[in-house]
Amino acid sequence: MSSERRLTSAAIRVRKGAAFPVMTAYDAPFGRCVEEAGIDVILVGDSLGMVVLGYPSTANVELEDMLRHVGAVARGTRRAHVIGDLPFGAYEASDETAVRSSIALVKAGADSVKLEGGVRVASRIHAIVCGGVPVVGHIGVTPQTAAIDAGFRRKSDAKSLLADARAVEEAGAYAIVLEMVDAGVAREITAALAIPTIGIGSGPECDGQVLVLHDALGLYPESPPFAKRFTDLGGASIEALGRYAAEVRDRTYPPAK
Ligand code: KIV
Repeated sequence: MSSERRLTSAAIRVRKGAAFPVMTAYDAPFGRCVEEAGIDVILVGDSLGMVVLGYPSTANVELEDMLRHVGAVARGTRRAHVIGDLPFGAYEASDETAVRSSIALVKAGADSVKLEGGVRVASRIHAIVCGGVPVVGHIGVTPQTAAIDAGFRRKSDAKSLLADARAVEEAGAYAIVLEMVDAGVAREITAALAIPTIGIGSGPECDGQVLVLHDALGLYPESPPFAKRFTDLGGASIEALGRYAAEVRDRTYPPAK
């Protein structure tokens, strides 16, 4: 499918001030569902590791995992902009590693990449953009490095968050995810930046909002408190599978005809 037909990073950048939805997806069928629902920005997040691959942390995800799942989402969609997450280990060592990993994600089907960090990854963002790949930043709670970074507690240090946000913008990112940032600080960052902010657990005043698909669809019994469950697909699936099992057991499926 021609990449010219996909929403570009430049078109997302000018959504500053508009409220727009972003959703994660990890495979072709759900990529298609997200796109059919009118959501034209899809993040293949490294949350893949926890919600699909069953790992305890996103730090377990390899670049190869991301390449496979980015490819699946790209093949399942036609017009949506696909953001591929750079997993832990794919960009820390050097700018060169970061550019190589980003280009691999683009070759797999990503239209842009996302990486975690503020001031400390500014040179990586700049190098990737200079390498020709659009970048989304990600500050606030950064799960890949939560072990060295105050864990998963909400972030509210306005001075340091603003410095991170500005560094990401100045390095050339076209948008920035704010994860679990105090809502007042998220509002301040959104007002201060020319690029769109995309919030998750950061209040209603970011430009866009993103959720993890499995949380939004209720595929697990538990989800983070900020993540609204828009349906109970987990419950509906268990109920349907139970009916299938019962019908096989009592020989009502398949029908005799
Ligand atoms: O990996 C992911 O799904 C993310 C979102 C939580 C923003 O980074």
